[in-house]
Amino acid sequence: MAFPSNFVWGAATASYQIEGAWDEDGRSPSIWDVFSATPGNVANGDTGKIACDHYHRYKEDVALMKELGLPAYRFSIAWPRIIPGGRGEVNRKGLDFYSRLVDELLAADIEPWVTLYHWDLPQSLQNEGGWTNPAITDAFAGYTSVVAKTLGDRVKNWMTFNEPQCVIGLGLDAGRHAPGYKLPQCDIVKATHNLLVAHGKSVDALRAIGGSTFNIGYVPTTQTAVPATESAADIEAARRSFFNYKPQRPLIWNLALLTDPVFLGEYSADILAVIEKDLPSGWQRDLPLISRPIDFCGINLYWGNRIRADDAGNPVMLANPVGHPQTALKWTVEEETLRWASVFLHKRYGKPVIITENGLSSSDWVFRDGKVHDTARIDFTQRYLLGLERAIADGANVTGYFHWSLMDNFEWSEGYKERFGLIHVDFATQKRTIKDSGYWYRDVMKTNGESLHQDPFSS
Ligand code: BGC
Repeated sequence: MAFPSNFVWGAATASYQIEGAWDEDGRSPSIWDVFSATPGNVANGDTGKIACDHYHRYKEDVALMKELGLPAYRFSIAWPRIIPGGRGEVNRKGLDFYSRLVDELLAADIEPWVTLYHWDLPQSLQNEGGWTNPAITDAFAGYTSVVAKTLGDRVKNWMTFNEPQCVIGLGLDAGRHAPGYKLPQCDIVKATHNLLVAHGKSVDALRAIGGSTFNIGYVPTTQTAVPATESAADIEAARRSFFNYKPQRPLIWNLALLTDPVFLGEYSADILAVIEKDLPSGWQRDLPLISRPIDFCGINLYWGNRIRADDAGNPVMLANPVGHPQTALKWTVEEETLRWASVFLHKRYGKPVIITENGLSSSDWVFRDGKVHDTARIDFTQRYLLGLERAIADGANVTGYFHWSLMDNFEWSEGYKERFGLIHVDFATQKRTIKDSGYWYRDVMKTNGESLHQDPFSS
């Protein structure tokens, strides 16, 4: 059997994308409330004010998870619900919501996997500089403690940051996500270092409460460098392309910048050559904190690029052939995306790898028969999971897979026009409909991947 018997199957969401109830029960505005309220920032002027109304409908949503037979559910906590001012006074009502959600999940036999930061920073902390201000690191540790003290008796699986690349790259460099800034490299580097320190302090706060009973991870993202062929030269070129500094890409999208310090306790030499002048003084002293031992390497993966070696062994990215498959967002469909990232990450960091997100946007709607026939999502996921199975067969220690997303939701600057869910949401009525892919994935989870070898479309 390719997938180990204790393999974790699940689906994921994030607080701002599904909860709504943006100003209820003491929640303060997050940077996403402010950003999405500014015309032009989000497609169609959409905001997360109501989203999937999950804050009020979480019982119905857990019942749907149960219907899908979901063993594990990854969700995030909204910092502005817990500590509206960013630091200091705790909002009991905010904590109570997550406590009720966790109880509901456990009663349905669903294991909670909690992400502490999935982008909804309290605006009050942004007002004092957000990630560019080192004071945020203690605030994040304080918030972590409060959450872990309340939920830690029932939640064992924790992730500090979701996609630090997007926090900084889209939020502070490209200006496409909240808070919408385009900062110079000196600020980008400092914010990156602060985020890494915040991760380390958060790990310390978690360990202080749960010790080794907590399963702690960190969730970067990247595009996979997929070897064009299985020749040793192409594999090595792809591996180098995956981790090495690339001058042609914005600094923040170099994977090792955000993973080597956490898993190896160092900035790689090629990246250090570019950033050292901008790091805060005494940065070396932070490395032991940043690299506190954690239990798994999460990774969010959506697509990959084919890489071949040139005559000197250097990586060359191949252009996609004309008409290559794409998702609704025009993201490349590359079925070896999960395979090679898992192999490379496991080899370099020696930690169990968990695919914490993978999925696609597709143009789904409810058919006249009342169902959602999203065949593209089934085909995509089958291809990607067969690639993952291959990685495991080749020796990569991959211990879990979470589909993004459980349900259609607020897709950041794309608003509600992009649908990533296994469950369709009608945003006018809040009616949920499990898509064909949801039922198909239910069988994959139930058979621990065995059903991936059946043709999903044969009748
Ligand atoms: C994020 C999700 C997002 C998904 C699809 C990831 O970048 O973690 O919040 O909805 O990918 O874009």
